Amino acid sequence: MTERVVDVQDAWRERGLVDDAKYREMYEASVSDPETFWGEHGKRIDWMTPFTKVKDTSFAPDNVSIKWFEDGKTNVAHNCIDRHLETRGDQVAIIWEGDDPNDDKHITYKELHGEVCRWANVLKNRGVEKGSRVILYLPMIPEAAYAMLACARLGAIHAIVFGGFSPDSLASRIKGCEAKLVITADEGLRGGRKVPLKANVDEAIKRLDDASVDHVVVVRRTGGNVTMEAGRDVYYDEAAKEVTDDCPAVPVEAEHPLFILYTSGSTGQPKGVVHTTGGYLVYAAMTHEYVFDYHEGDVYWCTADVGWVTGHSYIVYGPLANGATTLMFEGIPTYPTNGRFWEVVDKHKVNIFYTAPTAIRSLMGGGEAPVKKTSRKSLRVLGSVGEPINPEAWEWYYKVVGDERCSIVDTWWQTETGGILITPLPGATKLKPGSATRPFFGVQPVMVDAEGKELDGKCEGNLCIKDSWPGQMRTVYGDHERFEQTYFATYKNLYFTGDGARRDEDGYYWITGRVDDVINVSGHRMGTAEVESSLVAHKKVSEAAVVGYPHNVKGQGIYAYVTLNEGEEGDDALRKELVAWVRKDIGPIASPDLIQFSPGLPKTRSGKIMRRILRKIAEDDFGSLGDTSTLAEPAVVEDLIENRQNRA
Ligand code: WTA
Repeated sequence: MTERVVDVQDAWRERGLVDDAKYREMYEASVSDPETFWGEHGKRIDWMTPFTKVKDTSFAPDNVSIKWFEDGKTNVAHNCIDRHLETRGDQVAIIWEGDDPNDDKHITYKELHGEVCRWANVLKNRGVEKGSRVILYLPMIPEAAYAMLACARLGAIHAIVFGGFSPDSLASRIKGCEAKLVITADEGLRGGRKVPLKANVDEAIKRLDDASVDHVVVVRRTGGNVTMEAGRDVYYDEAAKEVTDDCPAVPVEAEHPLFILYTSGSTGQPKGVVHTTGGYLVYAAMTHEYVFDYHEGDVYWCTADVGWVTGHSYIVYGPLANGATTLMFEGIPTYPTNGRFWEVVDKHKVNIFYTAPTAIRSLMGGGEAPVKKTSRKSLRVLGSVGEPINPEAWEWYYKVVGDERCSIVDTWWQTETGGILITPLPGATKLKPGSATRPFFGVQPVMVDAEGKELDGKCEGNLCIKDSWPGQMRTVYGDHERFEQTYFATYKNLYFTGDGARRDEDGYYWITGRVDDVINVSGHRMGTAEVESSLVAHKKVSEAAVVGYPHNVKGQGIYAYVTLNEGEEGDDALRKELVAWVRKDIGPIASPDLIQFSPGLPKTRSGKIMRRILRKIAEDDFGSLGDTSTLAEPAVVEDLIENRQNRA
């Protein structure tokens, strides 16, 4: 098969911040002398106390320490708001597009300043100060950005929990970071349906024995009826009446935590990824500018939810640090019609659009007509994130959405990396559909084999990163050892990403997906261990093993092998019951797509489940099961194949 290569179009190069030669020159400078490179680019944000040290980082397995700009002081909210007031106070900072197409708002930088100061004062009045942890459980409304920035303004640490997570998941995150205050809304609104956010918060707090939560601040979104607990709960609009719109930004150390974000790993419960202030903001802002080829005046739209890292770095912090106009969308791509994305693009004259392959694949199913009904002529750059984009979806994005006029940036990164690490730059990089292409400035990808041997040239292996970049996570909240174990113990002196990849003859990277027990469902990370522990908590289940399998729209689907207790019957009713159970326990994104009841699971004689075999059967690819001679009971496999649920 000859690979298709899409050349950089003249228009992209002419407008581009960098061309290929400039990219190579800057990349070379960034890796040969990171101190000088980042010392220079570190100045793209305002510092209240300028830094004199640039980089102090070590990946030594039992002594991982990552510090950037460590003696500098700054404030993220100041950088995202105050410093723009003089030059662009009346420019729109946030365009909000509601779930209902008739609902929208434009918020200028000046207005943003007032809102964020009010929010900060409301929080301050309730004891929030530098270092306090605040949980946000909110829909995609401007208040989510206000609350994030209000925390940053005070030096408080926010931990956002995606609104699709269950009360249990919310409870474990409240407990994990001992939050004193929770910010939520009465109800969320997505695709015309209401989400009972406040009721979920009540449930979550009830489940915690000695709840740390002293205050719940509630934004009125739908006006729906909720229970307010006297002394603990307050409506934001009422609390805001008591405060002014003046609140100074607190200067904090560069390494002061900005946020915690819980994410799934291959073992145990989600871990609290900690990002800090200075390096994170420099990296988010710089990648936002270069990767999307952002120019002054552009309207930029990232369709992620602020509950995920993409929303943190590329709806709020990166774009606002650059003084951009960022669009925030409350709804879903298919409501009220499956042309909604493109209608919003036309309505707000969006220039840069950033979404996930799963959304593209689901819209492809609706054909070209809903797209072609719209003009989309404002569009210039189209981005993709969250999972590998298959070449068919890439071509559809390029041809149907972008009319072969827009460049595509397939951006590879992770919650842990804080910002984009591997990506094309519109003016510089020839594109290959399906490849995230080349590393961003300062990023040194390394390919290793299973034994940790570094591979050269064209190869396939595990993707690691050598040396630190400013946006890197600093620790797992409250558990530095877990941080070291998870990312730095597998391969010496390297950060291990958990992803497999291929590097081609041009040095381009092709991410092949996770090599650990993490699955990627519609661009959302899910640990198989989390789904398993939810399933075995059901009274009829004795054992469960969960793997991913290829899914046309979601990228990967969740396949669960379930062994029931003696005397229980596995039927469709129980399947439904188990799906509902997991939805309720973790959230809808964790719902198993296929459940296979099996009398036993394939185990080694020492009792270890052989996941390799389960994955193959789930993929309907059982012709090549490999060596099964070490199995305790080889007959189990016959039964699994016989009763497999995915007949692709
Ligand atoms: C996957 C999302 C291929 C990858 C920003 C990674 C991708 C995980 C891409 C992180 C891409 C993300 N191509 N795979 N462009 N982007 N991934 O933490 O497996 O939610 O490890 O961060 O998503 O997911 P997370």
